[in-house]
Amino acid sequence: MPDRLATPSDAGGPCVRDALRAAQAALARSSTPRLDAELLVAHVLGLSRPQVLARSSDPWPAEHAARLSELVARRADGEPVAYLVGRAWFHGLELEVTPDVLVPRPETEALVAWAGDWLRARPAAPHRPWRVIDVGTGSGAIALALADRVDAAEAEIWATDVSPAALAVARRNAARLGVGARVRLSVADLLPEGADAPAAFDVVVANLPYVGLRELGDVERDVVRWEPHGALFAGPDGLDIVRRLLAQLPSRLAPDGAAALEIGWRQGPAVRSLAAAAVPDAVVTVHPDLAGLDRMVVVQRCRA
Ligand SMILES: C[S@@+](CC[C@H](N)C(=O)[O-])C[C@H]1O[C@@H](n2cnc3c(N)ncnc32)[C@H](O)[C@@H]1O
Repeated sequence: MPDRLATPSDAGGPCVRDALRAAQAALARSSTPRLDAELLVAHVLGLSRPQVLARSSDPWPAEHAARLSELVARRADGEPVAYLVGRAWFHGLELEVTPDVLVPRPETEALVAWAGDWLRARPAAPHRPWRVIDVGTGSGAIALALADRVDAAEAEIWATDVSPAALAVARRNAARLGVGARVRLSVADLLPEGADAPAAFDVVVANLPYVGLRELGDVERDVVRWEPHGALFAGPDGLDIVRRLLAQLPSRLAPDGAAALEIGWRQGPAVRSLAAAAVPDAVVTVHPDLAGLDRMVVVQRCRA
């Protein structure tokens, strides 16, 4: 890889397109070299991707060459592009991400869709908005997408994370998206305790760590290398934290309430059994993702 991408060299000097091509070539081992190159060039220039493409014939500003080279080298070394640009997109929202939080994944949008559908199917809670909580919020992705999707009169939204550093990112995202006063964020081990916390929640959504230490060899090397281990791993079979959340549900999930948990593709049968044992008055269902792999377990409590 060249030391500096697109350094002015000849009469006309390079244009933005040249910088994009050089970055793309240097990122050939990425699964998305063109997209990565566009995101990095856009970040360095302080533009959006469409703006970069619209200005591809503009001269490439020489003062940005060293910075682009550094970012391209880090990306080529496997660092997630979201950490390099400090941003990720989830459910149409642009979120700040740092190495303190998991990069939100598109498959997790299924939890947002499920919670939105659950609320829409039950138009009005008796006498009060529904109480919804995102457990293990990380960047705030699920809670903030729900706040964006559901009216304040319809649902009150809580979110917790055990990591103060992750919660600081979620707080900044909530403030930037204008819902800082609406989403009640707190540092907590799973469901929040104390006088300010509701006795029970109507809806619990959780994308908690679920990778088993036994499966370490199956996880992409760059995920293990760059993303926070406290967001990934949960004991030998990956279910240590899910088990603890399921144990809280009998006392903290409302009588007609429901919980949805993201799971690993091999965990459907195990989590179904654990949930059925932990919440005997619930109907437990396992839902596939778009690839047909088990991805979510729903625990729907039924009033006797
Ligand atoms: C897989 S990440 C998911 C983050 C975010 N919900 C998302 O979907 O992008 C799991 C998150 O759960 C948090 N976490 C781990 N153990 C927890 C616990 N006992 N209580 C609350 N949060 C926890 C981690 O700090 C991490 O931010």
